[in-house]
Amino acid sequence: MKDITMIKYFSIVQALCRSALATPNDAVLHQIKRLQDSFEKDGLNKEAKSLEGILSSSQASTEMSPSKMQKSFIVTTGEEITKKTAIPVDKETSTPLAEIFFPESLPEEEPLFDKNIELAIQLVIDEWNKFDQLIEVDANPASSCLIYGAPGTGKTHLAMWIAKQIGLPVVLARLEGLMSSYLGTTSRNIGNLFAFANRYNCVLLLDEFDAIAKLRNDPQEVGEVKRVVNTLLQSLDSRRGKGFTIGITNHESLLDPAIWRRFDIQVEIPKPNPEVMIHLLKKFVSPLEFDDNEIKFLAWCLEGSSGADAQMLAKWLKRSIVLNKDNNFIDMMKQFSLLNSGRVETTKRNVMLHNDDQFINMLLNDKMYSFKQKDIASLFGMRASTLSKQLSKHKDTEKI
Ligand SMILES: Nc1ncnc2c1ncn2[C@@H]1O[C@H](COP(=O)(O)OP(=O)(O)OP(=O)(O)O)[C@@H](O)[C@H]1O
Ligand SMILES: [Mg+2]
Repeated sequence: MKDITMIKYFSIVQALCRSALATPNDAVLHQIKRLQDSFEKDGLNKEAKSLEGILSSSQASTEMSPSKMQKSFIVTTGEEITKKTAIPVDKETSTPLAEIFFPESLPEEEPLFDKNIELAIQLVIDEWNKFDQLIEVDANPASSCLIYGAPGTGKTHLAMWIAKQIGLPVVLARLEGLMSSYLGTTSRNIGNLFAFANRYNCVLLLDEFDAIAKLRNDPQEVGEVKRVVNTLLQSLDSRRGKGFTIGITNHESLLDPAIWRRFDIQVEIPKPNPEVMIHLLKKFVSPLEFDDNEIKFLAWCLEGSSGADAQMLAKWLKRSIVLNKDNNFIDMMKQFSLLNSGRVETTKRNVMLHNDDQFINMLLNDKMYSFKQKDIASLFGMRASTLSKQLSKHKDTEKI
């Protein structure tokens, strides 16, 4: 009977040992060794082996790098998620409440933003990686971050990449599992999800967060929403000191102000500026090669669009080039603007499609991108002198 009780609580014993070994001393080592011996004596071989493993990995990391032991108190106290860890499910439908992404499957590639945002994000990562040093000086490091901004700006990619930098698996909340039409079930699911995330070393990612964190005073919604948001507030509070949490939304205005306040950091991800758009396009069109002038023109066409739109355009160009090798560059972009009306701004699209002279003038007069006559001639596949003649003819007709 005694043995069964011990096995039942063994995960807590393991967590206790790991957290004691975060700052190891002789007494701690001695007591854990004693426990290991007792397990062995009582025939609890699996448990004894596990303690032996905890002791030897603690010794290895002390020898390898003394500073590593101090990396993060939180990281050393929670349990490790493995491929075998049972993910909580909705009790009525058995739909999982989360999906796990292990660090090796998280994106390697750093998302591209302007310098200020990149610096701000690096600060978030540095804070987490130096969590214990900051705690020691009572600096209250940030452990929750709300990322918001327009669709397709790379928010989910960014959150996954941050987790990769921190080196922890992501517990991604699954809305279809969490949300239930039964009264009270959504709240229970949220509670279970947070209990799971608090138990393990992980980054909890609440993507499309607005779906569960709606304003409590929305007249369209009844008492249940209030209950859900209250549970969410308590759950976010319960996560303090337990791990990193990232919330993402496209609809920040829908979030309850109390939810906003729970996040230590709030980062707005803007649509890419021309410089960032050029970088994104260069990255996405690879392995195709376009010259700088062509890339600049693509960025001009996509002005005001998102990184996801740049990715979409790159895929479209690859398809068009493979399927229709003879198509010239400008004609391809005319077709793109016709088939992607939401991605190319209306005035630009109308001019591109209906009047080449106006199109050329629009490019020439664009202050932000400052195309030269020779660049435009090359885009249209004509000589600079032909373009120059065409423009002066146009000017003459305008005078008449
Ligand atoms: N700034 C960026 N840097 C790198 N990749 C980007 C960027 N913006 C968008 N992308 C790419 O576009 C695609 C969509 O990005 P992602 O899903 O992260 O956007 P999102 O902001 O989460 O969109 P949504 O609001 O629709 O959920 C991804 O493949 C991502 O890699
Ligand atoms: Mg997203």
